[in-house]
Amino acid sequence: MKVVYTISEVRELVKQYKRDGLKVGFVPTMGYLHEGHGSLIKRAKDENDIVIVSTFVNPIQFGPNEDLDKYPRDQKRDEEVCETYGGDVMFLPSVEEMYPEERKTTVTVEGLTAGLCGAKRPGHFNGVTTVVTKLFNIVLPDRAYFGQKDAQQLMVIKKMVRDLNSPVEVIGCPIVREEDGLAKSSRNKYLGEEERKAALVLSRGLKEAKKAIDNGEKVSKNVISIISDVINKEPLAKIDYVSIVDINTMEDVEEIGSGVLIAMAVYIGKTRLIDNIILE
Ligand code: PAF
Repeated sequence: MKVVYTISEVRELVKQYKRDGLKVGFVPTMGYLHEGHGSLIKRAKDENDIVIVSTFVNPIQFGPNEDLDKYPRDQKRDEEVCETYGGDVMFLPSVEEMYPEERKTTVTVEGLTAGLCGAKRPGHFNGVTTVVTKLFNIVLPDRAYFGQKDAQQLMVIKKMVRDLNSPVEVIGCPIVREEDGLAKSSRNKYLGEEERKAALVLSRGLKEAKKAIDNGEKVSKNVISIISDVINKEPLAKIDYVSIVDINTMEDVEEIGSGVLIAMAVYIGKTRLIDNIILE
């Protein structure tokens, strides 16, 4: 596996791959790779000749009081995970490499970013869509892979690619969970022992919601109450939001039909975790 740090190095490699007629799959990450990322790398490897994984903790997608400075970083471990799942190239640019001068351009996807995490983390999605556009322009992938845990991010990036006619196919991959149901996340590292147990309220809330819906509940606000009750029973948990939205518009739905996303963000102590299910 090759490890490169500069845009010119990765461009040079990609030029050669394209000359050789190889398909390039791309997995953009912020590092501290876990099995969730592993599943994206593996899928990319199955569907392409070459897999490029970027790890870049993108400062412009963090708010002023968020966890940019303490975001977990471990390059050696990332290289091991990447190689284990079949990555061919790791691209690890520095902040100076990605943002060498004052930036005057921002990529914004309107509407889909208004609610859920977009409402709670102002500017976050502008940071994501701007860096993903830059990474796509650098790596020129045929396909790019994103986890469904960040369901809103996935839908926003798909819309951006359609609106801008970017020549990349965006592929969403299912959430990978721990055995007890906790969705894999780099931020799980922040959880202490008691918090780790408390964090199960997210997946438990979703499970209860699914059960109620399977038993015929259709009213969104009743399902939101069921989830909120589960979470509010846990003293270490504090709801940031619980929403039920149309998966395509990200707008609230009053009644649950198909194509619905049930999404939540919950603080466990100081750690903000997200989870969701999609009802197809
Ligand atoms: O999902 C992430 O890890 C990040 O938001 C992404 C897509 C790599 C952009 O920084």
